[in-house]
Amino acid sequence: MVFLGFMQFSVLSLCFIVLTTFPYQASSRVSFGRNQNGVNPHLDDGICASAVIVHGYKCQELQVTTKDGYILSLQRIPEGRLEGRNDVSRKQPVILQHGVLVDGMTWLMNPPEQDLPLILADHGFDVWIANTRGTRHSRRHVSLDPSNPAFWNWSWDELVIYDLPAVFDYVFSQTGQKINYVGHSLGTLIALASFSEGKLINQLKSAALLSPIAYLSHMNTALGVIAAKSFIGEITTLFGLAEFNPKGLPVDAFLKSLCADPRIDCYDLMTALTGKNCCLNSSTVERFLMNEPQSTSTKNMVHLAQIVRHGVLAKFNYVRPDYNIMHYGEIFPPIYNLSNIPHDLPLFISYGGQDALSDVRDVENLLDRLKFHDVDKRSIQFVKDYAHADYIMGFNAKDIVYNSVLSFFNQVL
Ligand SMILES: *[C@@H]1O[C@H](CO)[C@@H](O)[C@H](O)[C@H]1NC(C)=O
Ligand SMILES: *[C@@H]1O[C@H](CO)[C@@H](O)[C@H](O)[C@H]1NC(C)=O
Ligand SMILES: *[C@@H]1O[C@H](CO)[C@@H](O)[C@H](O)[C@H]1NC(C)=O
Repeated sequence: MVFLGFMQFSVLSLCFIVLTTFPYQASSRVSFGRNQNGVNPHLDDGICASAVIVHGYKCQELQVTTKDGYILSLQRIPEGRLEGRNDVSRKQPVILQHGVLVDGMTWLMNPPEQDLPLILADHGFDVWIANTRGTRHSRRHVSLDPSNPAFWNWSWDELVIYDLPAVFDYVFSQTGQKINYVGHSLGTLIALASFSEGKLINQLKSAALLSPIAYLSHMNTALGVIAAKSFIGEITTLFGLAEFNPKGLPVDAFLKSLCADPRIDCYDLMTALTGKNCCLNSSTVERFLMNEPQSTSTKNMVHLAQIVRHGVLAKFNYVRPDYNIMHYGEIFPPIYNLSNIPHDLPLFISYGGQDALSDVRDVENLLDRLKFHDVDKRSIQFVKDYAHADYIMGFNAKDIVYNSVLSFFNQVL
């Protein structure tokens, strides 16, 4: 039952602030194929082999090393299923960046004609799937082992400073083309933070942001807010600065303690956390559960909880003024000022009316920061029925969202 609970839990972790809870009463018919170590042996052949090549596409497993030594896996789908003749060097590259507690596999949970990477490849794009440090295929480092707490000494600030630039530099060096970007959830936050500091801009053609996360003050679940509020105290005692493994035992204990809170309904957690997803096929959810969630660092979760609590998008807060001064030269961590994103950067933003994480009011706050953006460089879509997970796994996401992403990229060309 406990294990089943984790399977259910993992659905929520699609979202990024999942810090939360544990569905003891949740019933689930989901079957899963993990062995005792929680790993499904059939899914460890790599993302290309298990989810791309099987559908008749070419796919290369690649790796890039960040300046701070993490070895990240990266998949390239250079062309569509029915090609083979085109000159790859002339195609537009697209990087896909997943959210927190999941990896690049989450883009590939549906049948091929519904998956964004494959749709992009079929429409003539050169597709690159990123995998953040700490996730299943990005758990190597030039000198640190994941069993060493120092391996987990990072938050999303480091994804801004190291991971994204490493992937962009590599794709840019391989293709010589400016890059289109697609981010979901945390993949939007790290992009916005980067752009606000002028990072990546020279290599960037345009960015499509799905379920954007930048402000989290209105996250409309009591659950998420309570969890975020309790996160620091609970989490640091339980984990220290280490791996946050949603499948591991200390997280189990944390969730149990949260569910003991009478204000928290641990029954329908997926809805409580990501919102009422309209359009997930049960076979897709089942597949998702076999693949996710993935680890991240506890420090990353703490940093995300800080956004919820403080309502500003700032660098990691060490809380102790002397530590902040040591890292930033200031008592408070510097903010990422989204008004500094270049006004002529082509941006596509799509947000859902049912999204509990990327709350409509928070997205409107984000849009307000972008109000001086050039009107003809800004394309905004609101999908009334969509929640957080619909954006990457919805069976109708192609019609509702991806076709708009394609026409956005094609306009920018
Ligand atoms: C973690 O990294 C910071 C730099 O970001 C460094 O100051 C600190 O000593 C590191 N802590 C550990 C335990 O490795
Ligand atoms: C759900 O997925 C199954 C298997 O791929 C498919 O047969 C079914 O038509 C899908 N349902 C919807 C609503 O897309
Ligand atoms: C953010 O940047 C804008 C424009 O550069 C500036 O007007 C504003 O004062 C800045 N906000 C903060 C909080 O620094």
